[in-house]
Amino acid sequence: CGIVGYIGTQAATEILLSGLEKLEYRGYDSAGIATIWEGEVNCVRAKGKLYNLRSKLEQVETPSQIGIGHTRWATHGKPEEYNAHPHMDAAMRIAVVVNGIIENYSELREELKQKGYQFLSETDVEVIPHLIAEFFKHPPSSVSPFCPSLLLEAVRDTVDKLRGAFAIALISADYPDELIVVRQQAPMVIGFGQGEFFCASDTPAIISHTRAVLPLDNRELARLTPLGVEVYNFAGERLKKQPRLLNLNPTMVEKQGFKHFMLKEIYEQPAVVRACLDAYFSADWSVGDSTNSPIKLGLPAEIYANLEQIQIVACGTSWHAALVGKYLIEQLAGIPTQVHYASEFRYAPSPLTPNTLTIGVTQSGETADTLAALAMEKERRQDKEPKYQARLLGITNRPESTLGHMVTQIINTLAGIEIGVAATKTFIAQLMAFYALALDLAYLRQTISSTKLQEIIDGLRQIPGEIEATLEKQEESIGQLAHEFAETKDFIFLGRGINFPIALEGALKLKEISYIHAEGYPAGEMKHGPIALLDAKVPVVAIATPGSVYEKVISNAQEAKARDSRLIGVTPFNHGEAAEIFNDFIPVSKVDELLSPILTVIPLQLLAYHIAALRGLDVDQPRNLAKSVTVE
Ligand code: G6P
Repeated sequence: CGIVGYIGTQAATEILLSGLEKLEYRGYDSAGIATIWEGEVNCVRAKGKLYNLRSKLEQVETPSQIGIGHTRWATHGKPEEYNAHPHMDAAMRIAVVVNGIIENYSELREELKQKGYQFLSETDVEVIPHLIAEFFKHPPSSVSPFCPSLLLEAVRDTVDKLRGAFAIALISADYPDELIVVRQQAPMVIGFGQGEFFCASDTPAIISHTRAVLPLDNRELARLTPLGVEVYNFAGERLKKQPRLLNLNPTMVEKQGFKHFMLKEIYEQPAVVRACLDAYFSADWSVGDSTNSPIKLGLPAEIYANLEQIQIVACGTSWHAALVGKYLIEQLAGIPTQVHYASEFRYAPSPLTPNTLTIGVTQSGETADTLAALAMEKERRQDKEPKYQARLLGITNRPESTLGHMVTQIINTLAGIEIGVAATKTFIAQLMAFYALALDLAYLRQTISSTKLQEIIDGLRQIPGEIEATLEKQEESIGQLAHEFAETKDFIFLGRGINFPIALEGALKLKEISYIHAEGYPAGEMKHGPIALLDAKVPVVAIATPGSVYEKVISNAQEAKARDSRLIGVTPFNHGEAAEIFNDFIPVSKVDELLSPILTVIPLQLLAYHIAALRGLDVDQPRNLAKSVTVE
């Protein structure tokens, strides 16, 4: 979901709508805005995409200078207009938008129903305007003389009753110069303009208006008026906080001539790899240099000291990057590494192991499951003897995110903001972070020779050029190949070793944006079940790059061929055995097996992109998905 809010001197509606457009990638099955005009709240909501809301507003737009807006990704209740935000109290004086979940909403709802409140939606959010109305019905006999506004007090009183992870923005017709925002484990930033202030769940919504932002911390609320911003904690104490300047410019959130953000982001990958190379590796290190370190992640020695085990928690594409990370860390640095789905780990963690580094990988830094898994890990290690103490590292593209607040050590993945819901360039950047981390560990633990280290770093430096070559040479032919799959219903992706996670990622990309059923398997596992799925209608993409498992993948591909599957080879070889079995080739450059995932994933992104684009689908905002899932 996405939240945006405005208070100032300009007409709010357009600012809110264009802000919501920038946030649509976070969830978009319905949307709504509320403004205040002539003493009334003007609330307009619409099911589906934002243009539905935009066209509804054309008839009822006001020049109001205050408002809140929301795009919704359904959690409680169907994606219908009556469930869309903003939600209001019965007297229609208070309008509220929320991201996240109110966990105790059913008991609050029951209590309110008994007091005579009626509910019009199935959402958890509707309790909030009613709780605020209830506060005003029975206002406290005395309020602190320092309390700046009763509305703020009402919100403070209300959030005290709420359990869950949420961010709130609200306005009231009785307080037409106040916009109140709250943060409790879901992101909320405040933007500072000239005589105007903004709030948003994510910075792209406001970046075209201001780069001066103040991210709220947990258990904080703020009162925005045309005169300024006041920040308080939940206890009601005023806090001194300064905005900071964001290193992001508005063009970063434009398509710049590309048909879709996803395609633009695929094309940005060489630059992303270069940025990571510059940031993570020393330019002047060479074999024999014992004074400098070849890797400059800047992580403190405590994180690495006596390290016995690594566990990684992540979701979705980040989980795939973590699998590549595990391969690299185990093979290069020899440290046993486990990768967990964050949503599983938080309820069934592995037994505590000593001297363990826990890594959370999340491009957004806001994925609720990943954050909760890390928080759980931190908590269960508290008060334990030193060797069991938590060591937490975050790998994220948003160091200013909730993750950034939560862990002390971060590897910043430097992909720049990613708008397409299907992750591409952030995945590549996560891979780069894992190369740097695995090599750093290997270097410090002396499990790699200097020559090999130099060889890998040199190889990495070639990668941006190789990606450029792939994009230049392959895009057109992959676009053509995509035509062949207009009617395809199922796809299988096979890979082994370090390219098994890439098979998973190729399948996920295709599922996410083309809605074609696709599965990735370790090629050797196919014969143990999935092979039953194969026939002439099920194409198989096999990643066959030179190295320890090349022949194995080829023979696994033969097994598929024998079941009449159309075989597409992602391989540098279009001769010999490969030429005999593959029906179609997607050539990739021949590189060290260890580096191959950064190259093999590119054509799979392009294949998914072209199939979805040809089907006329909404590539950047696929159905049912959200860029970051801030609910459990
Ligand atoms: C959502 C997105 C996925 C993404 C996953 C994890 O489900 O749709 O594309 O991989 O979240 O996101 P994160 O921000 O934690 O990397």
